Amino acid sequence: MNVRETKRQAATTGAMSWASADGGARVLAVDCFPVEHTTNNQETNRMKKIMLMTLAFTSAALLSAAAGDAKANYEKACVKCHGADGKGQTKMGEKLGIKDLTDAKVQEGFSDEVGFKAIKDGIKDKDGKTKMKAAEGLSDDDIKALVTYVRTLKK
Ligand code: HEC
Repeated sequence: MNVRETKRQAATTGAMSWASADGGARVLAVDCFPVEHTTNNQETNRMKKIMLMTLAFTSAALLSAAAGDAKANYEKACVKCHGADGKGQTKMGEKLGIKDLTDAKVQEGFSDEVGFKAIKDGIKDKDGKTKMKAAEGLSDDDIKALVTYVRTLKK
């Protein structure tokens, strides 16, 4: 095998282990297992696999925990206007003429940034009257999770 071929092979091996992990896992795998394929290769690979699997499970658990929080926050702070289903068929919703968040067109009508800002700062009409009040006691991460949650209401 000439030098060029060795390099090519190394690149392929690298790409294979990269493809099997998400961004975080990729960095971790590189950090913990410097490119050293000389000794005990099998054991290293096994360890790598275990690490990556653990990581995948942990991030899945973290993600669903965040989604649970967002649902709870939505129920606490948003349902009275937007309704549990997001259709806005509530007393407040009708009074305010809220748009139907299950409608794909409505969802397309605002970007994640606009949704974030609406939740964080609230919405005022052109006369400066509050239509939607700013969220209280929610961190930026909570609000981001709420935007993600609102996207799931789309039918
Ligand atoms: C007091 C009633 C009220 C409450 C409470 C409320 N909203 Fe709203 N929301 C509105 C109104 C009114 C609008 C204006 C747009 C419309 O007509 O639907 C709106 C718009 C939005 C939009 C679309 C933004 C845009 O620019 O079109 C999102 C996303 C949203 N609300 C999410 C939430 C979330 C998440 C919560 C809970 C943290 C919440 N709202 C709580 C009344 C409310």
